[in-house]
Amino acid sequence: MDLLPYIESRRDENLNELKEFLRIPSVSTKTENKPDIERAAQWLARQLKPAGMEKIEIVPTQMHPLVYGESPQKTGRPTVLFYGHYDVQPSEPLDLWTSPAFEPEVRNGNLYGRGTADDKGQVHIHLKALEALHKTQGELPINVKVMIEGEEEVGSVNLWDFVQRNRDRLKADALIVSDTSMLGPGVPSITYGLRGLDYFQVEITGAAQDLHSGVFGGAAPNPITILAEMIAKLHDKNFRVTVPGFYDDVDKVSATERKALNSLPWKEKEFRKTVGAPGLAGETGYTIVERLWCRPTLELNGIWGGYTGEGSKTVIAAKAYAKFSTRLVPSQNPAKIAKRVERHVRQLLPKTVKCKFEVVSTGKPWVAPYSHPIFQQARQALEKGFGKKAAFIREGGSIPFVTQMHDTFGVPCVLLGFGLPDENAHAPDEHLSLENYYGGIKSVALFYESLARA
Ligand code: BES
Ligand code: MN
Ligand code: MN
Repeated sequence: MDLLPYIESRRDENLNELKEFLRIPSVSTKTENKPDIERAAQWLARQLKPAGMEKIEIVPTQMHPLVYGESPQKTGRPTVLFYGHYDVQPSEPLDLWTSPAFEPEVRNGNLYGRGTADDKGQVHIHLKALEALHKTQGELPINVKVMIEGEEEVGSVNLWDFVQRNRDRLKADALIVSDTSMLGPGVPSITYGLRGLDYFQVEITGAAQDLHSGVFGGAAPNPITILAEMIAKLHDKNFRVTVPGFYDDVDKVSATERKALNSLPWKEKEFRKTVGAPGLAGETGYTIVERLWCRPTLELNGIWGGYTGEGSKTVIAAKAYAKFSTRLVPSQNPAKIAKRVERHVRQLLPKTVKCKFEVVSTGKPWVAPYSHPIFQQARQALEKGFGKKAAFIREGGSIPFVTQMHDTFGVPCVLLGFGLPDENAHAPDEHLSLENYYGGIKSVALFYESLARA
């Protein structure tokens, strides 16, 4: 059978198999899900054989195993390294899911469940594309190395160590990743830029213990008030970050690139609808697309302290906390930015409280030219697989591993995203459009096939 009819004939089998994968709650951040993580790794390792891999390994790490496989490597053929992740974000808040997070269900042409878009569904696209090539051609037309990690959602803690120890084994002509989004429905996309990330946590301590707010209020410092004041000073009225030097190393986007990005078929109306707020907010002087993809930001991710239970409690809490993060763009340096943010935060706080400042994780931004011929092959494969014109986009999310690979191996990184921005990654009712899932399998199969002809 030919490649595309074969893929077409496997629609139901493929979907059912993906559902099996999605039923394993491989939440990387929770200790209670450790057995599920192991199960997901084993499940994946079993799927690598029909995809044409021979050397298949479940590599233990300090935390969660990664799954690695290699097809028989034949000289004279191009080699690709595919990267994805099988771990997922927690499913809470559970009551906001229409159907349970780990009981995948199809509704209105979408597959719902945690990990559908980020990233199990996208990983499965590649496995099924490879399987189709392997089955219809008797062997894979190119050399393939597959590396799927289980710690992406907790910062890929041990991945880099594995890569360093296996530099020769991982050599490839290109890195292929599917862990991003399409610009919108009907616009298959190749992502050539991602933001970096610094993640922080602060603990503000006032009194030695919680205090009666009647007995002590008026004389004791209130860490919640002080934290709130500090946070409010992190942006100015134009929504620019006030950290001194924050914008120093930000690369200016060329007029050509600005024009290209701002003329993409991106729909502001749809974006507003997805956000669903009464209005949008952000740095003045830039278009929304520029603010999302090319400008750095500072976002509060969580804030807590004091009494938040039922009814009231008149208390001055001893401590207040916040988690916040910066999204970074080329050529900002995450370590340098972290130092500047810490210094600024400490300067904003009065002497009446103590502050513990923690840098939880960092990751570099990435942007790379798409002039290498492989990007045109990817574009053509997407256009054939979807029957739609493809777009080159940047995105605001972060995959620090891509930067590391790009810097270390100097290979082209081809990011083929099959999620959509409104598919609720990390949120309740995460889903993946089945049209993009099936279109993805076809496109990826065509892409890998076209590499053999290069
Ligand atoms: N798949 C996302 C990254 C992503 C999302 C890229 C949207 C492009 C568009 C990845 O799983 C993720 O969630 N990354 C985290 C960072 C990571 C270090 C925890 C992120 O972007 O917040
Ligand atoms: Mn992801
Ligand atoms: Mn994610």
